[in-house]
Amino acid sequence: MARQRGILVIGATGTTGRQVVAQSLEAGAEVRATARDPGAAGLPGGVEVVRGDLTDPDSLRAPLDGVEAVFLLWPFATAEGMPAVLDAIATRARRVVYLSSAAVRDHERRIERMIERSGLEWTFLRPHAFAANTLRWAGRIRAEAVVREPYGAAAMPPLHERDLAAVAVRALLGDGHEGATYELTGPETLTQAEQAGVIGEVIGRPVRWEETSPEAARQRMLADGWPPGAVDGVLRAQAGMVAEPRAATATVEAVTGVPARTFRTWVTGHADRFRTP
Ligand SMILES: NC(=O)c1ccc[n+]([C@@H]2O[C@H](COP(=O)([O-])OP(=O)(O)OC[C@H]3O[C@@H](n4cnc5c(N)ncnc54)[C@H](OP(=O)(O)O)[C@@H]3O)[C@@H](O)[C@H]2O)c1
Repeated sequence: MARQRGILVIGATGTTGRQVVAQSLEAGAEVRATARDPGAAGLPGGVEVVRGDLTDPDSLRAPLDGVEAVFLLWPFATAEGMPAVLDAIATRARRVVYLSSAAVRDHERRIERMIERSGLEWTFLRPHAFAANTLRWAGRIRAEAVVREPYGAAAMPPLHERDLAAVAVRALLGDGHEGATYELTGPETLTQAEQAGVIGEVIGRPVRWEETSPEAARQRMLADGWPPGAVDGVLRAQAGMVAEPRAATATVEAVTGVPARTFRTWVTGHADRFRTP
């Protein structure tokens, strides 16, 4: 990788961002990270953690000083607010790697268009479902070795956050990724019920899939505080993956030179989250 310095990771405390920070440090980059509460970020030594809030673009000016490339995620369901953030980035940095999504929802497509017009060098990451999404089953698995969800037949190739981050770090630090849009998946398509089965095999305790109605899942997610739009989006996507299983792409290996990690590998690395203490 040619360039080895000056990146800012926005969303550094999240599933993907933590890996982007760790792998960028390993690659020898100078890494700065934003968090809304730097004191609680729990990031490794060697990374400069500064306060930054995407809803307050002025708060990003100091973090962006002297930075060459930015890892950007946008944890909102609207593009509103993005122009000011992009302006702050484009006046200071040269390159942005944006964590979009394979669903390319309206706001994500709008953000991609804004970035294309920003004058920045850009790379778009469009991941399919994260393997880490199965952590939402962890409580029930620990308690009763069961997953109660709809759409057990929904089939997708779950993506390890390390692989997503590995592609991000190549695009942040290396050349040849400008203008690329990477659709990223794990290496194999599994139904949700099969994923529960793999978790059971890894933890040595069979995990049962108990199909519930979409409406029951909807009510539970709303009770858990999910925004209605997000609930409907997730359930609609899962229904779509019953009718039309998502196929794996070879993009992780094409970009990193290393095959994407399997779902079983991901579960093995997170098995403690599913085991009864
Ligand atoms: N899950 C999937 O299957 C999937 C698939 C495709 C795409 N995606 C996309 O991936 C993104 C989420 O990535 P992730 O799962 O790695 O993140 P995550 O674990 O959900 O963490 C969210 C991150 O966003 C930061 N954040 C939240 N509000 C912020 C604000 N106002 N200003 C600055 N930072 C803020 C948080 O930082 P602090 O709280 O420390 O400030 C945290 O680091 C979303 O855009 C989602 O659409 C997800």
